[in-house]
Amino acid sequence: MRPLRERRVGTVVRRVETVGSTMDAVRELGKDGAVLIADEQTRGRGRQGRAWHSPEGGLYMSVLLKPRVGAEASGLMPLWTGLAVCEASRGMDLEPRLAWPNDVVVGTKKLGGVLCESEVAGSRVDRAVLGIGVNVNNCIFPEDVRGTSLRLELGEAVELEAFTDDLMERLTDHYNRFLTEPVAFLDDYERCCTTLGRNVAADTAAGTVKGAAVGVGEQGELMVRTGEGVEAVHAGDVVELET
Ligand code: BTN
Repeated sequence: MRPLRERRVGTVVRRVETVGSTMDAVRELGKDGAVLIADEQTRGRGRQGRAWHSPEGGLYMSVLLKPRVGAEASGLMPLWTGLAVCEASRGMDLEPRLAWPNDVVVGTKKLGGVLCESEVAGSRVDRAVLGIGVNVNNCIFPEDVRGTSLRLELGEAVELEAFTDDLMERLTDHYNRFLTEPVAFLDDYERCCTTLGRNVAADTAAGTVKGAAVGVGEQGELMVRTGEGVEAVHAGDVVELET
């Protein structure tokens, strides 16, 4: 059951044809739960300073949130956002998984991704922008990207607006649950996470951490068992190693 004082994702929904990046444009909407959706982006950005190829047919959406949670919880937001994308895709009869932290993948191909930019005031998150890119009906990817789309996987075009509406409902549910029980979603996340149980190499600011990915901690960090014990990886690129 939803709380009486429910927060919504989609309090304001603005759709535009073209934008540099929805990450910037959504901030102008100001309101908690505001959403900006673009048909295409000319300067879409991804994690780790990468570009996000954003031709027509994909979903490019940013959500502005003002959650006022502790700064330590900010790393959880992109995780439940990725989970919401997986759940919405499951509603279309597809079983994508999450590669830690929030890559949505089908096998080894990338279906979608999440970028979170949060601003902290004191010890709390003041506002956060969650950017979601999903390859829905776009089928051509840059050479260096192993991409796939809902259309390619399902063999038919997908109703982009219906998918987006469903995703906003799921984000609303996750947002409200996060505000009252920040880590409650982690069990579902872990079930969906393909990284767990694998041998990985994580490139972090402090060097490479190699070992078995054994869990996700309460701040969204990946727990990796190495020869020296269990190390927490908070950020960085993770690759799965051949076993
Ligand atoms: C990733 O690198 O996996 C994250 C990709 C996030 C892309 C989305 S598309 C909508 C929003 N606007 C952007 O410029 N980036 C995010």
